[in-house]
Amino acid sequence: MPSEFLNVCLRRLFLCGSIATALLTLSIGQAAWIDPQQPTVLITGSNRGIGLAFVEHYLAEGWNVLATTRSPSSADDLQRLGEGWDNLVIEQLDVTDEDRVKTLAADYIGTPIDLLINNAGIYGGTKEQNLGSLDPQTFHDVMAVNVLAPMQMIEAFTEHVAASRHKKIVSITSGAGSVSGDQVSTGGAFYSISKAALNMAMRKAGAALGERGIMVVLIAPGLVTTDMLRQNRPNLVPRANSPAESVAGMAAVIARIDASHNKQIMNYNGSIVAW
Ligand SMILES: NC(=O)c1ccc[n+]([C@@H]2O[C@H](COP(=O)([O-])OP(=O)(O)OC[C@H]3O[C@@H](n4cnc5c(N)ncnc54)[C@H](OP(=O)(O)O)[C@@H]3O)[C@@H](O)[C@H]2O)c1
Repeated sequence: MPSEFLNVCLRRLFLCGSIATALLTLSIGQAAWIDPQQPTVLITGSNRGIGLAFVEHYLAEGWNVLATTRSPSSADDLQRLGEGWDNLVIEQLDVTDEDRVKTLAADYIGTPIDLLINNAGIYGGTKEQNLGSLDPQTFHDVMAVNVLAPMQMIEAFTEHVAASRHKKIVSITSGAGSVSGDQVSTGGAFYSISKAALNMAMRKAGAALGERGIMVVLIAPGLVTTDMLRQNRPNLVPRANSPAESVAGMAAVIARIDASHNKQIMNYNGSIVAW
């Protein structure tokens, strides 16, 4: 039955063709954005505020930008940026989703990440962290996003950073986490505690990874006009910088990081933060 035999052959050929096309598309998809001549940055919480300003900054510098966000479909500003730049890839990532963190790291095995920016953060409600109305769930949420998630991001992406040229990890802290700082505001206890804990978590990571040439640095962005400040500390907005101003300062600090800065806590203007 030659026609049946022919049919089988054609079906197999079609299947092989489809697989080959899929593989080709995948490899082209990777190659289209990763320019091996340029460094790569991965940013968490990149759909708004300081994270979005980091994306804009590094795109303009010609870096490959791996912009992660909880909800790509509603990240309108990020999607708009994607229309103008080939070197931007948007990936879904809730930093508290341990499985997703691991899957994303596995998806990018073999891709050196020069700079990992742990930017995603939450403040938690204001009332929920005041004595008299403490809410334990808010405490857990704030600690999960601001402390545990950056540690797990580092754990998942250590090899990618180790394989890169720059080998830098930056976590965004806050002056609010400074234990020895002159001013301790009355509100935002959970948030302040989380940033103090983040500082120690990153110093631990820096101590563990320093021998592999990885530099782990904390940077405080100063007061910045983002949703976080507007919603939780509106009285401070008039004194705040724009996200672009803060990021310009932080990027200059990041560019100057060398091994002597490992485990340090710096301000966006390069000064050392007391903690
Ligand atoms: N603004 C300031 O004055 C100031 C001062 C000191 C330190 N900081 C620090 O700067 C960083 C950025 O803050 P911002 O001012 O830009 O705040 P923001 O405007 O509120 O933005 C926070 C970002 O974090 C993301 N995020 C929150 N939870 C997340 C999760 N579970 N997984 C992934 N992404 C998550 C948000 O995503 P969604 O849109 O999905 O919620 C958003 O992209 C934070 O670490 C913050 O503590 C800010």
